Amino acid sequence: MNRSARVQKLLAEMPPAEKLGQLQIVFRPRHDDAAELIREGLGSIFWPRSAAATNALQRVAVEETRLGIPVLVGLDVIHGQRTIAPVPLAQAASFDPSLVEELAALAAAEARSGGVTWTFSPMVDVARDPRWGRVVEGFGEDVHLTSVMGRAMVRGYQGDDLAGRHAIAATAKHFVAYGQPEGGRDYNAVDVSEHRLRNIYLEPFRAVVDEGAAAVMASFNTVAGVPMHANRRLMTGVLKDEWGFPGVVVGDAEGVRNLLPHGIAEDLTDAASQAFRAGLDVEMGGAPSEVADALLSAIDPARLDDAVARVLALKESLGLFDSPYASETDELTAPTDAGRALVRRAAARSSVLLKNDGTLPLGARARVLLTGPYADSTDHLGAWTQSFGADAETIAGAFVARRPDVEVRVVPGVDFLGEDASGIPAAVAAARASDVVVVLVGEPSALSGEAASRSDLRLPGRQEQLIREIAGTGIPFVVVLETGRPLVVSDWIDLAETVVVAWHGGTEAAAAIVDVLLGDVDPAGRLPMSWPRSVGQIPIHYAHENTGRPATTGGSLSAETADIGLHGPANVADKYTSKYLDLELGPEFPFGHGSGYATFAHAPATLSASSISGAELDGGATLSLSLEVANTSARTGDEVVQVYVEDVVASVAPPVRRLVAFERRTIEPGRTTQFEFEIGRDQLGFWAVDAAPPAFVVEPGLFRLHLGATLASTQAVDLRVV
Ligand code: GLC
Repeated sequence: MNRSARVQKLLAEMPPAEKLGQLQIVFRPRHDDAAELIREGLGSIFWPRSAAATNALQRVAVEETRLGIPVLVGLDVIHGQRTIAPVPLAQAASFDPSLVEELAALAAAEARSGGVTWTFSPMVDVARDPRWGRVVEGFGEDVHLTSVMGRAMVRGYQGDDLAGRHAIAATAKHFVAYGQPEGGRDYNAVDVSEHRLRNIYLEPFRAVVDEGAAAVMASFNTVAGVPMHANRRLMTGVLKDEWGFPGVVVGDAEGVRNLLPHGIAEDLTDAASQAFRAGLDVEMGGAPSEVADALLSAIDPARLDDAVARVLALKESLGLFDSPYASETDELTAPTDAGRALVRRAAARSSVLLKNDGTLPLGARARVLLTGPYADSTDHLGAWTQSFGADAETIAGAFVARRPDVEVRVVPGVDFLGEDASGIPAAVAAARASDVVVVLVGEPSALSGEAASRSDLRLPGRQEQLIREIAGTGIPFVVVLETGRPLVVSDWIDLAETVVVAWHGGTEAAAAIVDVLLGDVDPAGRLPMSWPRSVGQIPIHYAHENTGRPATTGGSLSAETADIGLHGPANVADKYTSKYLDLELGPEFPFGHGSGYATFAHAPATLSASSISGAELDGGATLSLSLEVANTSARTGDEVVQVYVEDVVASVAPPVRRLVAFERRTIEPGRTTQFEFEIGRDQLGFWAVDAAPPAFVVEPGLFRLHLGATLASTQAVDLRVV
C-alpha cells in the first residue's frame, strides 16, 4: 500500500509507543479522562455527544500532543443519528437500495455535523437464525440482498469524498460469519465450511470492500475454533492479501481481551500480539496500553507501521489533518422536516403486507379501536439509537391527528411483557363498539439487538391472547407487528386475515403506520428473512440445499391419523424424506413474501438468448432478461420483481434457488412497464473451494431463471451455459 508523504513523515517521527497509541479507540464518558488519554497518545475516541465536546478533545490532540495528529471520532450510527430511520432489517425489507443510500446519507450528514467521522456500520452479517437478536442490525438471510444494501449504505455514508462535510467512514461488520452462532446465542461459536464461508458469509464483505468501505470490524465469534480477533487466515489472508483491502481493521469492544476467555491467550500481551499479528489494526477498549512495553517488544515493527499507516491514511482521507474541527454553528441536533419526511416514507415502504383480506386500507370507518401495547407506546426507534435520536410519537396521537373525523378509542389491553391480562375485557368491549380494530402488537426495542437472543419467538406477554379475543368478537381487525426480528406467529395467524409487519420504524414510525393503514403509502415491502412456523425449524431459509430426499408433504401428528407402529407413524406420506413428523413443510412466510395494495399482471418473461458460452461469460457478456408488468388495479402501487437462479446440476450441491437481482418500481394504474435484468457471470457463478485460493466459477449446464413478485409466484426461463 503506497503511503503519502505526510504518512511517511509521521511514521518516521513516531516512536513505537506513539505508534501504539494510534492503534486504539477507547470510550471515556468523562472529558478529563479522554483528554488525558489523548495527551498520552490515544488515536481514536468515541463521540463525546456534541460538536463542541468533540472540538475540545480534538484541540487537545492537535495542539497539546507532540505531532498534533487529530483523533478519529467513532460511533455506532446504525440507522440514523438524530433522525432515526427504520432498523436495517426493515430497510432491507424495502428492497429499495436507493432509499437505503438516502437514509445513510442523512445519517452521515447529521453525524459529521456533530463531529463524528467514523461509524461502525453497515452490518453485513448474513443471518438465518432469528433467535439471534442482532438480525435487526443486518439485512437478513440473503447474500445478494445483503450485498446490495451494504453497498448502498457505504455509498450513503461515504459519498464521493470522505473529507466532505457530510461524509463519515463506513465500517463493514462483523467480520466474519457472526450471524451464524450456535443456538442463535450471541457471541457463540461459529463453525461453517469453507464452501459456506466463501459463498455466503464472506460475499457481502467482498462487496462492501469493493464499494470502498473504509474499515472492517472483526467479530466476537470463532470460526472453526479460531477467534476472529486472532484469525490471520481470514483477516490478513483473505481480507488484506486476497482482496487487497487498504483500510483499517478495527476490533470489536474488548474483542482482544476476550481472547483470554476464548482460551487462546496466556495473558493480555499474548492476546494483543496475536491480534495485531493476525491483521487487527485498531483495538477497541484500550488493552494494549496496559501492556505497552511487553507488547511492543512482541509486535513485528513492519506490522506496527502497516497498521499505523492505515490509520493515518484514513485520517488523511477524512481531511482531518487539514480541517480537524466540526463547525459548532452547523451542528444538526434535531430532525429537519425533510429528514422526518424521508424516514417516514422509508418506514412505510419497509412495511410488509403478510396478508390482506381487503380490510386495508381502512377507508372511511366511523369508529376505530386502537389496541395492543403499541397503540400508545413511543418505543418505535429499535435497537442501537443510543438516546441521540429524536423520540417518536404514539400511533394513537398520529391517527387522531390525521383523522379527527373518526371516533377513535385507544385501549391497549395488555403490556408488551408480563402476564397481566386484566385489561383485555375492556379492549374486547371497545372492539364491539367499533367498526374496525387495529391490533398494534410486537416486540419492544429492547428484545432485539446485541446480547438479545430469544429462545421463544412468539409475541411476548399476553399479546397473543389479546389477538385471539379480538378475533372472537367478529369485528373486522388488522394486526400490525412492530418487531426487530421474524416472529413465530403460527398460534394466531390463521385467526387474522390482515397482517402488516412494520418492524421498528424509527422517529416517524407512528405517522408511517397511519400512512399504511389509510392507504397513503403502499406497504409493498418483502420479507428479508423467512418467518419460521416454529423455533424448532431454525435455521430456516429459502436458499437451502435440496437434500437427497426432499419432502413434498410435511408431518402432522394426530391420534386419528397416525398409525404409530414400530417405525413411527405409518401414514406419513413420503416417509423417508427431510421433514418434521409434527410440522408442515417450510416457513410460515418465506423470504421475499409480501404484496401491496395494487395488483399486477406479469407477462411471459423473455431472455435475449437461450444459451451462452462460458468464454463469452468470462469476457463479460451478459444476457438480458425482460419482464412486462401491468398494474391491473385502480391505484398506484409498487411491484418488487425478484430474480432467482437455479443451477440445475453443479459440481457441489447447489441451493434450490438464490436471489441474483431485484427491482422495486412504482407503477401507475393501468400502466405497463418493462423490467430488465442483466444475467452474466456474477449471477451464474459460485465460489469453488476445492481450488486454492478458491475460484469463482461458472460451470457449463442448465440454469433455470425464476422471476416473480414472490418466491411462490415465479415463472421460469431456461438458460444453458455451453
Ligand atoms: C459492540 C458491538 C459492535 C459495536 C461496538 C462499539 O459490542 O458488537 O457492533 O460497533 O461494540 O459500540
